[in-house]
Amino acid sequence: MSKLRVGVAGLGTVGGGLLKLFADERSRLHEKMEVVAVSARDRGRSRVADVSAYRWFADPAEMAAQADIDVVVELIGGADGPAKAAVETALRRGAHVVTANKALVATHGVELAALAEASGAKLLFEAAVGGGVPMVKALKESVAGCRAGAVAGILNGTCNFILTEMESTGRSFDDVLKDAQKMGYAEADPTTDVGGFDAAHKLAILCAIAFGTRPDLAHVRIEGIERVTLTDIRLAGKLGFRIKLIARGASTDGGVEMHVRPALLAFDHPLANIGGSLNALVVDAEPVGQLTFIGRGAGEGPTASSVASDLMDLAEDRASFAFGKPLARLADAPRAAPTERGRYYLRFMVGDRPGVVAAISERLAHEEISIESFLQMPVHEGPAVPIVLTTQTCARAAVERAVKAIEALEVVVEPPYVMPVEPSARAFRPS
Ligand SMILES: NC(=O)c1ccc[n+]([C@@H]2O[C@H](COP(=O)([O-])OP(=O)(O)OC[C@H]3O[C@@H](n4cnc5c(N)ncnc54)[C@H](OP(=O)(O)O)[C@@H]3O)[C@@H](O)[C@H]2O)c1
Repeated sequence: MSKLRVGVAGLGTVGGGLLKLFADERSRLHEKMEVVAVSARDRGRSRVADVSAYRWFADPAEMAAQADIDVVVELIGGADGPAKAAVETALRRGAHVVTANKALVATHGVELAALAEASGAKLLFEAAVGGGVPMVKALKESVAGCRAGAVAGILNGTCNFILTEMESTGRSFDDVLKDAQKMGYAEADPTTDVGGFDAAHKLAILCAIAFGTRPDLAHVRIEGIERVTLTDIRLAGKLGFRIKLIARGASTDGGVEMHVRPALLAFDHPLANIGGSLNALVVDAEPVGQLTFIGRGAGEGPTASSVASDLMDLAEDRASFAFGKPLARLADAPRAAPTERGRYYLRFMVGDRPGVVAAISERLAHEEISIESFLQMPVHEGPAVPIVLTTQTCARAAVERAVKAIEALEVVVEPPYVMPVEPSARAFRPS
């Protein structure tokens, strides 16, 4: 059988890693396929791999239009612009596409999958979620015959690195972020990562596959880690929890709920000990139960490995539909009514005066919220002291009403902070 002819658009971190894999005699890639063309902006730039043997295109869409290229690998990035133009060009003429671009897939996945189906091409994106961890395949293949109830993951290595460092070194969010930027773990503009948007792109993709719905980025509720303080990390630790940015999608009676937000995890939760820049996903499905996938969520080698895995699927003719099923069989994502219930962590910064605790308890009781644990500790410098508590299971709406009433108390000196407690492993069950 003739080899697949591959064009690689984008020769940065991931593209360079892929070309290194092609050059590695121990990889099976070169048995099945060959790179015939590449595209990047700057032809004169020194690269980790020699690209002089390949046809060069400054315009990735022009490369994608070449009739002798069977697969276009898009490793440029960005939801629109040259990445989208190249992918559309390839799919329209029936060339397969492999991409690592979560922004593109989460934003335009439906229209791109439609182009692929119309021309008979495949659109694959294992590398877009979880770097080297096979999360897309796990959902498309391993649990394809099961009923997925929930997925919950640590999908952003930058946030996980920052929270892990804050906990282990006792340094503030701002300090650790500056270091992460110096070390290349965080971008100069960290908003996409620390604001939760990168994880939201990935969650939208995973939920589409897990629950058989169209990707629905607009309905992921997103909260970043910017408000997590050292005080939260220390006091949550004393209560038996660790704080992580959790991307969670669950199929509930009311529809699919998708959240990216900081959450408290009991120390024995499967995601609680995923440290540093690792990524992990817990899938809960019937009848298999709970599966956990862990590995390196970014970087040249892990991400290129996932791209290579998609390429091998194409070469060996086992690639499936973009979201696991034909588009016509994907449901519109049913949106959950805001009926969230759970346990919550509440932090109030208050003036150190008598009667505060009673005032807070009274407002919680008024909403029929029971307190599970309570801490007031002088861990904070300055005029205010933190009071933190966790609730027993209650309605989120009731927590919001109580918090609003507590915030109105004169003694409360800054906006309260609320985080959910992630369900424990045993409670993590399909509906
Ligand atoms: N880095 C990771 O660990 C990682 C992990 C998972 C997913 N991803 C995803 O993989 C994709 C690539 O990421 P990366 O980190 O490899 O990016 P990168 O290092 O910034 O590389 C981007 C590449 O795209 C090329 N490029 C940019 N604009 C272009 C244009 N208009 N025309 C042609 N080429 C253009 C650049 O060309 P020049 O080299 O000439 O500037 C560069 O080679 C993104 O979608 C990202 O989200 C990355």
